[in-house]
Amino acid sequence: MKRDIQIDISRAKSAAVGAQHGVTPADLNDIESDVLAAHSILCQEREEKKYGFYDLYKDKATFDAVKERAAHFASFTYDNLVVLGIGGSALGITALHTALNPPYYNLLTRRGRKGHPRLFVMDNIDPLTFRAMMRLCPPKKTLYNVISKSGGTAETMAQCMIVAEQLERKLGAAAVKDHLVVTTSPRVAGAPKSLLHPVAEAYGLDTFAIPLNVGGRFSVFSPVGLFPAAMLGLDLDEMAAGCEAMDQRCSRASLMENPAYLRAAVQVIMDREKGKCMSVMMPYADALRDVADWYRQLWAESLGKQFSLDGEAIFNGQTPIKALGATDQHSQVQLYREGPNNKTFTIIGVGRFDKSLRIPDTLRQVAGIDYLRNKSMNKLMAAELRGTMDALKASQRPVMRIVLPRINAYTVAQLLYLLETETAMAGRLYNVNTFDQPGVEAGKVIARKRMGGHG
Ligand code: PA5
Repeated sequence: MKRDIQIDISRAKSAAVGAQHGVTPADLNDIESDVLAAHSILCQEREEKKYGFYDLYKDKATFDAVKERAAHFASFTYDNLVVLGIGGSALGITALHTALNPPYYNLLTRRGRKGHPRLFVMDNIDPLTFRAMMRLCPPKKTLYNVISKSGGTAETMAQCMIVAEQLERKLGAAAVKDHLVVTTSPRVAGAPKSLLHPVAEAYGLDTFAIPLNVGGRFSVFSPVGLFPAAMLGLDLDEMAAGCEAMDQRCSRASLMENPAYLRAAVQVIMDREKGKCMSVMMPYADALRDVADWYRQLWAESLGKQFSLDGEAIFNGQTPIKALGATDQHSQVQLYREGPNNKTFTIIGVGRFDKSLRIPDTLRQVAGIDYLRNKSMNKLMAAELRGTMDALKASQRPVMRIVLPRINAYTVAQLLYLLETETAMAGRLYNVNTFDQPGVEAGKVIARKRMGGHG
């Protein structure tokens, strides 16, 4: 039987960390009507298809098209899949890949990768890194997927220009369609035009559409995440099942029975009432490291807003921080415990790792490590997690916990869907526009002008 992820806020309650730092029953009581009012608005917006991320997993036609094209490109047996994209066009597939593929995936043999290509996600314009990638990925053996919803992002378009030129020069214009796939907004009358459309036309490229009502950071279950995931052989059907299971839980019109709403409410209370202006996400599994990175963008870009929906300057937003257990116990936890008590913590644990590793009964001359003998690394990881949670509690630091029974496509999709729905609710509670990012625009305009463009 498939087991769902568990969400527990008990260590963020006043009973655990005191009323100054934890949510009290009265706090939850006070916010309940706001949550229910926000739920009605979110449901209405969902029904009106204003925001489409909720229902991406139901789009069977897109899932089938993605799988079909992935099977087509798999027949070329490429060694490399290179994603060109930034922000929401890169972080989702990175999170899925790190979570669901084996560690050191790119260093494995083709057999170790079950015949799938290596993955390179190019989400920057560092010339050294990009050149190095191109040296490692000869055009003949490489499929590129350029992803940009707007189709106008300078970083991604620069990457695309370099790659298109190289493909055409080395393989000829007719071959480009076998090495480059476009994912961008659809051609819809009245909608902004993507600069990737003429590129796709020029070479006859396969093109996937990102629905207009799905923003970049909410697009992981659109072709943005799905096509590269399918190329890597990840289980899209299990992802859809995970989204569906979490959708059922997160559709409930209830504060206490809806895990996304409960987490959002706790975060907002913490930020507004308890001075917790930062939110740390700390998974205790290397596989979930990039989920924390993905969440960092989701929380920051969605909630960091100067103006409320009523136009009032409120300078809103908790600063999200990514950490990794147990690694960052030896880097950050000193601050987390003894520095300012201005953070909430989400600690993510794993019920059972797919593999275990015994610590051997060796180095017998060292008595100080007897407690480790014949124990497993798994047990040590669980003990470290518990140690951090208890230590944070002793310092009155509020912790919410999420447990994935196992790490697989079903549970990871649940986790991402939970965090997306939580962010949508938090935006409503803060009364900000969760789905825009006007603050990113100014820098883009200046950069474009400095490059001689129109800004
Ligand atoms: O979440 C967002 O909308 C942004 O982070 C975008 O994903 C990012 O700016 C890249 O934009 P685009 O996909 O249009 O190239």
